[in-house]
Amino acid sequence: MTAQLIKGAEVAKQIREELAAEIAELKAKHNVVPGLVTVLVGADPASQVYVGAKEKTSQELGIYSERHDIPTETTQSELLALIDKLNKDPKINGILVQLPLPKHLNETEVLYAIDPKKDVDGFHPVNVGKLMIGEPDYIPCTPHGIWQLLIRSGVQIEGAEVVVVGRSNIVGKPIANILLQKQKNANATVTVCHTRTRDMAFHTRRADIVIAAVGKAKAITADMVKEGVVVIDVGVNEIGKTADGKRILAGDVDFEAVKEKASAITPVPGGVGPMTITMLMMNTVRAAKLAAGLA
Ligand code: GUN
Repeated sequence: MTAQLIKGAEVAKQIREELAAEIAELKAKHNVVPGLVTVLVGADPASQVYVGAKEKTSQELGIYSERHDIPTETTQSELLALIDKLNKDPKINGILVQLPLPKHLNETEVLYAIDPKKDVDGFHPVNVGKLMIGEPDYIPCTPHGIWQLLIRSGVQIEGAEVVVVGRSNIVGKPIANILLQKQKNANATVTVCHTRTRDMAFHTRRADIVIAAVGKAKAITADMVKEGVVVIDVGVNEIGKTADGKRILAGDVDFEAVKEKASAITPVPGGVGPMTITMLMMNTVRAAKLAAGLA
């Protein structure tokens, strides 16, 4: 079997078109313009690229966008004062503080300071808790993107054996939580594997759907999956550079070998990656609707 490619870039484009139409309607009918602010502390090159992409996508969709690039030396109290100001700014519906923060800053305290109503990352404990009990306002962007990819590719989720490899707060735990909820497009039997799992392949070989969020290139090999599996690869690992200095990326899955056994698989790049920013836009639109009493 050669797998169907789950093309995240195409699904993301379709969702962005739907969002652009919704944003235009919000403006025309209700004079509501969703607003997103990004906060970048320091000048990490990868973070600059991510924040730039978030700003550009916002503008393309008609979202009001603000960007605060502040110096690495910013103190905790200065950053908290900025968040307080943004929490109170009515033009702003979503606040995204790009992670990781410089070492001297307390990331947990910063995330807790964001008003949960503006927490479009879905990282605040209030939003984590709401997701856990099946009443989410904001689903974190990467797991939300994975879920949409599965749904829009017609993958059978209800009753499926899903194995999530990785237990991070950003991907592993939330996607496991989403898929086990008692609701449509969920209702899966979910197993979460991690670095202390005794026999990883025992679990992954049973899975109808494998979600790999390990952070290690080609960690999931063909002998670890069954024929017909659906594979979602969340990994973005740099495995070298081209002669002209461009990064060569590989996912967490040995794509070339696994695609021969899978029924469907996401490529890297062009799979989960393009979905993440799109789901941030979806959360920002939701934040604006919640603030205006329209959701
Ligand atoms: N850094 C890498 N991914 C993310 C994300 O989804 N949200 C934030 N705030 N920072 C990140």
